[in-house]
Amino acid sequence: MKIKKCGIDCSPPMDLLLLADPSIQMVEKYLRSGQCFIAEEFDRVMGVYILVSTGKDTIELVNIAVAEEFQGKGLGKKLVLDAVERAKSLGYKKIEVGTGNSSINQLALYQKCGFRIVGVDLDFFTRHYDEEIYENGIQCRDMIRLSQDLSGLNFS
Ligand code: COA
Repeated sequence: MKIKKCGIDCSPPMDLLLLADPSIQMVEKYLRSGQCFIAEEFDRVMGVYILVSTGKDTIELVNIAVAEEFQGKGLGKKLVLDAVERAKSLGYKKIEVGTGNSSINQLALYQKCGFRIVGVDLDFFTRHYDEEIYENGIQCRDMIRLSQDLSGLNFS
């Protein structure tokens, strides 16, 4: 399995990207403004993520997804860690990610990969999405913001 940039000769895996965000408008916006990376093996796309620069020192991980048949085998963690390393080597000082209050597994994954919760954008999903979203029996209303310092300093 290799993780590579999805450049001009590669069409982004929309089916996978829409697993992470049901809004096609949001996915298209991220693809226009960010860089897409795919995990593939034998020409089969197994996972994807997008990195969007949000400032001189800050980059955001958006739209990470693993194809359903490959979930739960460690690929999601590999992709998150790859995004962190890539952000570091691009010279960013901070990487951020956001997920829903109902996304229990994603909250576990990001924290296992070194992210810490830094804020809550209350009612983000109720404001930006027409359909109500439920996961784990919880309504997805708020965006939990997480971030990781890449500068090598650790104050914790
Ligand atoms: N409690 C504790 N740990 C949990 C957990 C839970 N409820 N759910 C997951 N984890 C842990 C796993 O144990 C693993 O850590 P470990 O290696 O230390 O055991 C880690 O989280 C990730 O598991 P992994 O197998 O690498 O994840 P994955 O390949 O299934 O990918 C997603 C994770 C989220 C990318 C994948 O499920 C997916 O594509 N979901 C749909 C799209 C999506 O929701 N994207 C994120 C939008 S914010």
